Amino acid sequence: MYASIATALLGASALAAARPSEENKGWGTTSSSTTEYGAMPSSTQSKGWGWGNNGGSSTTSAADAGQSAFSFPLPNGFPNVSASALKDLEIAAQGVPGNGAAPMVSEDAKTSFRFIAFNELFEVAFFTELVNNITSGHYTVPNGQSANVLRALHAVQAQEEIHALGANNLLKANGANPIQPCKYDFPVDKFEDAINLASTFTDVTVGTLQDVQKTLAKDQDPVGTIQLIGSVIGQEGEQNGFYRNLNGKIPSALPFLTTSKREFAFSAINQNFVVRGSCPNLGDIKLPIFAKLDVLNVDPNQQPVNTTFKYAADNDNVYSGNPEDLSLVYINQQTLPIVLPLKMPQQNGNTLSFEADFPGAFPFHMNGLTIAVVAKGKDFKSVDDVAAATLFGPALIEIN
Ligand SMILES: *[C@@H]1O[C@H](CO)[C@@H](O)[C@H](O)[C@H]1NC(C)=O
Ligand SMILES: *[C@@H]1O[C@H](CO)[C@@H](O)[C@H](O)[C@H]1NC(C)=O
Ligand SMILES: *[C@@H]1O[C@H](CO)[C@@H](O)[C@H](O)[C@H]1NC(C)=O
Repeated sequence: MYASIATALLGASALAAARPSEENKGWGTTSSSTTEYGAMPSSTQSKGWGWGNNGGSSTTSAADAGQSAFSFPLPNGFPNVSASALKDLEIAAQGVPGNGAAPMVSEDAKTSFRFIAFNELFEVAFFTELVNNITSGHYTVPNGQSANVLRALHAVQAQEEIHALGANNLLKANGANPIQPCKYDFPVDKFEDAINLASTFTDVTVGTLQDVQKTLAKDQDPVGTIQLIGSVIGQEGEQNGFYRNLNGKIPSALPFLTTSKREFAFSAINQNFVVRGSCPNLGDIKLPIFAKLDVLNVDPNQQPVNTTFKYAADNDNVYSGNPEDLSLVYINQQTLPIVLPLKMPQQNGNTLSFEADFPGAFPFHMNGLTIAVVAKGKDFKSVDDVAAATLFGPALIEIN
């Protein structure tokens, strides 16, 4: 029943609230057009979800919703943890970080570990707030599972803290500044929605860490870093089996989980959860933040069938060329990018609306996470090619 609530939440949050901030302008991949954003948001397409922009002022942003935003430090001092606080944290996490010397890594690997620290800090914020919402009685856990769920989430929360500390410690050992936390707003207000959201962003994390491993291998970084990331992929996969099962899905979604790119995950977190302008050193992370893309009509019980989805792209001076030169690209499992034309594209105000087919049935069986983006071009041989040409996205679709 909760099949795509998180998708709807991620997809329907206010377009205007999601625009990249000034501080991220100019960090591009290879496509210069991905880095040229309109400076100020408009107020079209606002839907609420706690993002604060309810269609009034044209400059309202997520940051204005900040009165209830989550902010650090935690009571134990995190992200600045004393030796004795770390001991308690390790007990809660049921384990410790590695104790070998930190590897010296490439520049691109530093980008990866900055991204990982950024991602883990966001996850610590989410799980801290989720645990608080349960212990305070604000959320009701169904079927008398409260104690079981809290036991799991307490460990997850501590484990995410150690992931974040680990990434930042590696950066420090490499002479790089640690990534500092932002303020966050989460577009959920119910236990089931929160778990579904956790499942979706964990899917994105698991896909993105594949990209991190690939980059480490390509750059010939120390092999131990690839081993380390593998241990985290498994850890996040264990978590996701639990979240999926809690919401009535089978624990393992697919034979080969959907891959992603650092750029997609970085964009999604900034677009959906970060209070804009609240990150002390976001600009250290040399990854682009794409313009937002929403998928509008995924059924709550969507099945992997051939169908057509409606999309809205936040096109505030991002792209002014011919829509026929754009493609809607799906990334699902480990298959090649699935490239489809934009049907009936229409620019209204700052919104580029269109439809695109979704070939969910044979031969792809597009269950689990599907990442949808709009990219310039029609011929993409790999997910790397897609990311390099992406203008809008990701929209996240979860099926079964
Ligand atoms: C953590 O410590 C650093 C360095 O002293 C400081 O700049 C930062 O503001 C602290 N972070 C938090 C959230 O307290
Ligand atoms: C916790 O509850 C508050 C208040 O309803 C809500 O705004 C927030 O998004 C919730 N956070 C999580 C992680 O579920
Ligand atoms: C679904 O679409 C794919 C790709 O366009 C096509 O090959 C397949 O025959 C379609 N399947 C059904 C059941 O319509």
